[in-house]
Amino acid sequence: MNKLEKANKYIKENISSVKNRPSYHLTPEIGWINDPNGFCYYKGKYHLFYQFYPYDVRWNDMHWGHATSKDLINWCYEDVAMANDTLADANGCFSGSAIVKDEKLYLMYTGHLDPNLGFPPNFNEVLQQQCIATSDDGINFTKYENNPVISQFDLPEGYRKSDFRDPKIVEKDGVYYVVIAVKNLAERGEVLLYKSLDLYKWDFVSSIYKSKHEENMMIECPDLFSIDGKEVIIFSGMPCNPIYDKSVGNTTEYLIGNLNFQTGEYTLEARDILDYGNSFYAPQSMENPENERIVIGWMKKWLSSSIVVPKDYGWSGMMSLPRKLSVDSNRLIQNPVLSIENYMVSKEEIKLSELNEEFIFHKDSNNVFNFRCAINTDSNNSIIYKLFGNNDKSIRIVIDLLENTVTYISDFDNIKEVYNVSTKLLDNEQIVLDLYLDKYSIELFVNKGKSVFSFTSFNEGKGNSFSLSSEKSAKFIYAEINQINVE
Ligand code: FRU
Repeated sequence: MNKLEKANKYIKENISSVKNRPSYHLTPEIGWINDPNGFCYYKGKYHLFYQFYPYDVRWNDMHWGHATSKDLINWCYEDVAMANDTLADANGCFSGSAIVKDEKLYLMYTGHLDPNLGFPPNFNEVLQQQCIATSDDGINFTKYENNPVISQFDLPEGYRKSDFRDPKIVEKDGVYYVVIAVKNLAERGEVLLYKSLDLYKWDFVSSIYKSKHEENMMIECPDLFSIDGKEVIIFSGMPCNPIYDKSVGNTTEYLIGNLNFQTGEYTLEARDILDYGNSFYAPQSMENPENERIVIGWMKKWLSSSIVVPKDYGWSGMMSLPRKLSVDSNRLIQNPVLSIENYMVSKEEIKLSELNEEFIFHKDSNNVFNFRCAINTDSNNSIIYKLFGNNDKSIRIVIDLLENTVTYISDFDNIKEVYNVSTKLLDNEQIVLDLYLDKYSIELFVNKGKSVFSFTSFNEGKGNSFSLSSEKSAKFIYAEINQINVE
């Protein structure tokens, strides 16, 4: 039995032990997931692959797990797409992307080689190169026999072949481009651009982005796309040197600017954090049949307080709600895909009222719902959510309109984190809040997607009160609770 068959057999035999999944967030069928990979639309369905280790709830030999969906919310597991079973990817099929060409689905991913399976790895021995696999049905994949297609020898001088990964392909005017993350010899992250006419032979174009020395940043999972007349680059950063763990953390950022695809020159116009919370990393985007740009991220970060569920649940990690992107006044706007509305089974409008004391909306819920409101107030105020609470412990999200910060406090996990937000949270004396709760997660979209916060928490059995309050006087313009049910 080969490695792929072994993984599929293991899943079939052990799937019944997996329990307590979230209600509308995609988890691995069993075991561990991290990054979303190969996000695409092919033959009438959305396909989402992911970094996957079926045999335990921890990171190990990376396979590509696979799920498909008609609407990005209700997912169906497919057979594992790839295992690390060739000379080019013997120690892991790392992150990558998908593109459709001549009716075929192409996956491009990083073949990871580490002879000592060292952790932390010895960079002198690790090799990362880019590989291709193809499929005619979107389910069964054949790896290209001459992998890698972008090898260590295609890497210009000045870069480390040990940190050269996460290819994201894009097509522009009949030419294929790929962005790949790399660490340079000064130990900083860069995004390299290559181009190809056939997806097999690639030529280096340029380095389109370099992190600054003082940022101490390695870049992972770059994404590049054109939208509303701009080119957006998204990347996830992590410290190059572990002593900066605390100050760099893992951040997902976006850049807005213009890319000259001929010269490979990127002109940066704006930069910001894609998701301020502690549980969003390595996002990947795709274009849907309506030409909309959709992004999905892993709801965890490598170095963060994001919480994991107990080991005996049999799964670890989940994907965020997919979000639709647009650009407005040089900001990236993100809102949940509209199809989530189809799963809102009951809508309860709440009568307009003053919001000065704690306002308890909902007591006996299963913690799976959406709560939307718009609030009128002045800037000398804080709005406070209290979630998953009981009498003495809760999770709180404090939106300080004067300081322009959002603070996440969990009494259960002893966490208090303050996020400085770059845009004004109060917009013309008004703040619009769209909150999605699932059993283990909180996603907050502020002011119609201008800033977004994702958190994970494990609070099963710890209480389910939900309230909103305001330090000073404030007025609801509207408020509604929508129960979400995805069967
Ligand atoms: C990001 C990442 C990628 C890599 C993958 C390995 O989370 O570190 O850079 O390809 O995970 O699983």
